[in-house]
Amino acid sequence: MKIAILTSGGDSSGMNPAIKKFVEYSTEKGYEPYFIYDGLEGLIDGKIKKAEYKDVGGIIYRGGTIIRSSRSKRWFDKTFRKKAYENLKKEKIDMLVILGGDGSFRALNVFYNEFKVPFMGIPASIDNDLALNEYMIGVDTALNVIRCAIDDIRDTASSFSRAFVIETMGRECGYLALTSAIANGAEMCLIPEVPYNLENLKKRYLKEIKEGRTYFIAIVAEGLKISNKIKEWFEEKIGFESRITILGHIQRGGSPTVIERLRAAEFIKVAMDNYENNPNKIVTYYNEKFILRDLEEIVNNKYELNKEMLELAKPLMGIE
Ligand code: F6P
Repeated sequence: MKIAILTSGGDSSGMNPAIKKFVEYSTEKGYEPYFIYDGLEGLIDGKIKKAEYKDVGGIIYRGGTIIRSSRSKRWFDKTFRKKAYENLKKEKIDMLVILGGDGSFRALNVFYNEFKVPFMGIPASIDNDLALNEYMIGVDTALNVIRCAIDDIRDTASSFSRAFVIETMGRECGYLALTSAIANGAEMCLIPEVPYNLENLKKRYLKEIKEGRTYFIAIVAEGLKISNKIKEWFEEKIGFESRITILGHIQRGGSPTVIERLRAAEFIKVAMDNYENNPNKIVTYYNEKFILRDLEEIVNNKYELNKEMLELAKPLMGIE
């Protein structure tokens, strides 16, 4: 049996350990592993190549994806999806393993409904925004990159008595901001999922300043698009000089953490062990267990942020 792996959408740290395990474990099981380079774009262009052990030597500690990724506009056009299907037929690929996020699984859903190419999906994206799933490959490394950045910013913020607005990635999902704000002792956490109250925050901050507070760390999710507004708010309403740090793409890089490496290996094992009896599933991680779910179930639901975490962060959003 020939199986091919591709990485799609925003790359995330931990994809490489998954690719390595894919080649090793599928060979162990007697399958023939293939790489599809450049994600869905490469699938359209037929960039399919047999994978070998030597391709994955020394990649376990590297961020990114050695088979590269893309966001494909052409995929929305059926002519190109048909081309992709013909490429798979030509190479006699029996099954696809896709590492990606919500957008990639929606793209896969369309493809599966049209051409019925068997697949297994593995959640990978720093956004952590997949329905019925609590962990995506890349999120732990991103949280650690953010943690290091906040530690460094705190040095300068505290030395200068400033307010720092730190913008995290995540598209419309506030997971990175929420988790980082709690884990790093921020004073403010603003995310798209929850309405915030600046008036309440102002009352608290002014009281804290009287009691001796000398600087602020504010974590703002990129999806809100309000980092400038919050910077100005700190200057005008709180009376603190303020700076913005947009963390940007550094959150996608870095050597995968131990958690990423372990879970990447486990995701691949679960996918490969279940493919023959239970194909066409997304392997999710939920309540500390790996659970196979239908693609339709994933794409027809919306992710939810953890309620306990939201509760913990309420004061940082001005919710009383
Ligand atoms: O989906 C991952 C992500 O890093 C988002 O958090 C971010 O909004 C987006 O990708 C950035 O996309 P690009 O790499 O195309 O600039």
